[in-house]
Amino acid sequence: DPPPPPGPPSFAGLKLVNDADHPWKPLREGDIRGPCPGLNTLASHGYLPRNGVASPSDIVKAVQEGFNMENKFAIGVTYLGHLLDGNLVTDLLSIGGKTPNTGPAPPPPAHAGGLNVHGAFEGDAGITRADAFFGDNHSFNQTLFDKFVDFSNRYGGGYYNLSVAAELRYSRIQDSIATNPEFSFKNVRYITAYGETVFPVTLFVDGRVTTDRKLSMEDAASFFRDMQFPPDFHRAAQPSSNEGIPQVLAPHPWLPGGNADGKVNNYVADPDSADFQHLCRMYTNVVENVVGLYPNPTGILKRNLIKNLHYWHTGVNVTFGGCTELFPYGQL
Ligand code: HEM
Repeated sequence: DPPPPPGPPSFAGLKLVNDADHPWKPLREGDIRGPCPGLNTLASHGYLPRNGVASPSDIVKAVQEGFNMENKFAIGVTYLGHLLDGNLVTDLLSIGGKTPNTGPAPPPPAHAGGLNVHGAFEGDAGITRADAFFGDNHSFNQTLFDKFVDFSNRYGGGYYNLSVAAELRYSRIQDSIATNPEFSFKNVRYITAYGETVFPVTLFVDGRVTTDRKLSMEDAASFFRDMQFPPDFHRAAQPSSNEGIPQVLAPHPWLPGGNADGKVNNYVADPDSADFQHLCRMYTNVVENVVGLYPNPTGILKRNLIKNLHYWHTGVNVTFGGCTELFPYGQL
């Protein structure tokens, strides 16, 4: 049985997390990493299984313990990934590519393909990862990191902060519009794209910093490229998540949408997409996508879909400020 999601940790304050119990280790043959520098770092320090395959409970505990990610937010992000990319029978998710270590995949169109799967959770216009259209949507991309450094120099005095996040987010959207005929930037991806630009400020900056939160380029490379906590790294001092998105959107308000008709420079807004005024549309859209992956589940698969959809709702309902729960497979 998939257990209910873990609650908040008993201590949710400042602490050293790059500690002797969690040494960084280089990858072994077969260890999996993916598009998320946060999860990659947790796996390389042993907060997650070092092979890169974990249960949703493992992930919620690890992001809380290692980064002080807020409980309901952690549940929302983790079960989103698990429902779209995980193996719901074995309760295991790959933080990168598809692997037999998550167990046999349910029949197609389900894939249990891990977080690398494009267009499920992972999407376009990432900060240090290229669009799937260009071939590799999950590896650290040095050219994009050079742009991250350049923008940090131009807008942040050599550091990444919310002003840099605003300019880089906007510029990465413009890059994709100009070069990726399949650019898609709506629903899940629209929401997560803004989230991932603030995590480096809220979660990668050492928790002992109390004012003017900004990330050095050395520490950024440590997380994004090396999957390693900086020396002596302390997690955020209080439960944190995506604080700062309004500051990222304000200088460059932008609507969800995508390049239409497979043509570059053809961005068309989608008025039906989720956005920050309509967060529950993301909830509904994902439930529809899950039903697309699992049109006719039976047995344990059906039971676990019902359970995981409910667990996910307990997170989004709080972080999205209330969304009517949907029961496409009924209730237990
Ligand atoms: C990106 C999943 C937690 C920081 C991503 C992406 C996925 C993902 C699938 C790729 C999105 C894309 O660019 O297309 C998850 C899941 C989490 C989680 C399931 C479970 C709670 C975290 C945490 C942090 C973090 C705790 C920070 C401490 C980031 C950042 C990116 C990202 C900065 C952007 C990477 C880039 O484009 O360069 N995450 N994540 N995530 N995640 Fe996570």
